[in-house]
Amino acid sequence: MIITIDGPAGSGKSTVARKIAKKLGIIHLNSGALFRAIGLKARRLGLELDDEARIARLAAETTFEFVLSGSEAGEMQDGGPDTRLLVDGESIDERLGSAEASLLASRIAVQAPLRDVLLEVQRDVSQKHSLVVEGRDAGTVVFPEAEFKFYLDADVRVRAQRRCEERQGASGEPLDVAKVQAEIEARDTRDATREIAPQVAADDAIRIDTSELGIDEVIEELCSRIKTESAP
Ligand code: DC
Repeated sequence: MIITIDGPAGSGKSTVARKIAKKLGIIHLNSGALFRAIGLKARRLGLELDDEARIARLAAETTFEFVLSGSEAGEMQDGGPDTRLLVDGESIDERLGSAEASLLASRIAVQAPLRDVLLEVQRDVSQKHSLVVEGRDAGTVVFPEAEFKFYLDADVRVRAQRRCEERQGASGEPLDVAKVQAEIEARDTRDATREIAPQVAADDAIRIDTSELGIDEVIEELCSRIKTESAP
């Protein structure tokens, strides 16, 4: 089974995707993390970020493993397993959340050769596992045949506020909401207007505006859609 959750930064898709995967006891594939990991690796190696062939080769040489850890898999119940992403055998979660990783990812995400490599990485995982995939093009390009497709969105001011709370929580530093909103708007424009795999909802995706919803309400809505539509 493949469930795709697409949407812009701050729409709630990461938290929702992680929790739904946990409830279902299946792998959470955060495709943004793949772009972030490659961006950070390219920077660390001092590669030219605009060298598309080199960046794609770097991705092809990188190993990504998705490991379910924690309690037993089970259907629609809390306390399921978490998914750990290992990049070249190493867990780098704490580095992937940085503003730098986000910016690097957004810059290289426009490159077709890199997208091709990471598309194959995602499809390979789906050969062996059921997935909740989150991204920008999961329901449109990577898994057009997915059983369930969702597109989450929210007002940009709400998204900026959420990002600030997240980053403040991580660093303790107060953040300027207007500045974060401007960053999000710039990234939205770059992601939505690029030629390949732009951030758009698939025609058959269920759209949910999360501006006024708490995470638990969004999860409830998704789970009820999954249950209803999988009923015989
Ligand atoms: O979801 P995220 O914030 O981790 O994504 C980081 C950047 O990578 C963002 O600018 C969009 C891009 N991205 C993408 O183009 N395609 C994906 N499937 C996932 C992320």
